[in-house]
Amino acid sequence: MQFQTRCVHVGVNKDTAYNSCITPIYPSSTFYWDDLNTHKGYDYTRSGNPTRKALEENLAALEGGIDCKATCTGMAAITTAMHLFRPGDHIIAGHDIYGGTYRLFADVMTSQGYRFSFVNMGDPENVRAALTPETKGIWIESPSNPLLNVVDIAAITEIARSAGAVSVADNTFLSPYLQRPFELGVDVVVHSTTKYLNGHSDVVGGCVVTRHEEHAERIGYIVNAMGLGCSPFDAWLVLRGVKTLGPRVEAHQRGAMALARMLDEHPAVDRVYYPGLESHPGHELAKRQQDGFGAMLSFDVKGGRPDAERVFSRLKLFSLAESLGGVESLVEYPETMSHASMTLEARREAGISERTIRVSVGIESPEDLVADMRQALEG
Ligand SMILES: Cc1ncc(COP(=O)(O)O)c(C=O)c1O
Repeated sequence: MQFQTRCVHVGVNKDTAYNSCITPIYPSSTFYWDDLNTHKGYDYTRSGNPTRKALEENLAALEGGIDCKATCTGMAAITTAMHLFRPGDHIIAGHDIYGGTYRLFADVMTSQGYRFSFVNMGDPENVRAALTPETKGIWIESPSNPLLNVVDIAAITEIARSAGAVSVADNTFLSPYLQRPFELGVDVVVHSTTKYLNGHSDVVGGCVVTRHEEHAERIGYIVNAMGLGCSPFDAWLVLRGVKTLGPRVEAHQRGAMALARMLDEHPAVDRVYYPGLESHPGHELAKRQQDGFGAMLSFDVKGGRPDAERVFSRLKLFSLAESLGGVESLVEYPETMSHASMTLEARREAGISERTIRVSVGIESPEDLVADMRQALEG
């Protein structure tokens, strides 16, 4: 089956009672046994649920993995994946990862005895240089959040393999429609399904997809033991969203490219971060390892925070809000919003400044988005 066919069909069509064309929602917390040895595959929803299972089969098929566990948030998925490691282990991560991931690593997990190095992954040699005998994991986000740096995933997984470390990729920004990290050698993929996979800004969720039996087993154990699985209703919503993933992402990308080209030429804009622009340092790499450039972009306004605030107040179609990947366009200010949980020093080290505005381009008509952004910049 081609990708978009899998989006629509994998995991669904299992209602033998009434032949419903969509997956039923099974809100039941518990399932009765026929006798002490027999049940129908589910006993308690924390451990497994038919609606959640449908989503998990679907997402595993989209990423090309052998198993998936759907979690209650993207952070729960990341927390779950990090349980592949133990206190004392050293993990290398990009220095410009999602702020919440940075907080989990640099604060919560560091205080539990895990050790992290945050490096500029734009050059894989920085990853090699950060290896220690205790390095057990390499955390990849590509393109990175919020500056859209493209990481050479195949080169980094090669380094991970040679060091005996597990590589994990957060594929939230592109979705499996545009990038399948397993094909580039990654061991474990995580998502915030809150974003493109659900796509309608009406659920928070996550997933961990695995390709090795031992990882699948451990992840399944942790999700159950820690109670991190998503609710049946949230699973159903994400499954509904996934069915339109391909057409949605195509529409998102059309708007992103039009907006990036306008911003790139606008005198009020200092710099545009969008891998679809030929001038972006990761453009050629993105062409190689991605099936499209995605719909996240950032730009620096010339005048700093006052300019950014003026743009936010004048925009009509773009709401000032965190999150991304929904059908409606959003703008946000990494300095005080998505990346506020990083220290000022860490933000500057990653290249995030007071001039940076991040955009999640929705599926509205590109002409309307371009016109709205232009009037906001020129006000
Ligand atoms: C790249 C990335 N990963 C993970 C997360 C966390 O996901 P959630 O908010 O669903 O917990 C986010 C949230 O913005 C994100 O942008």
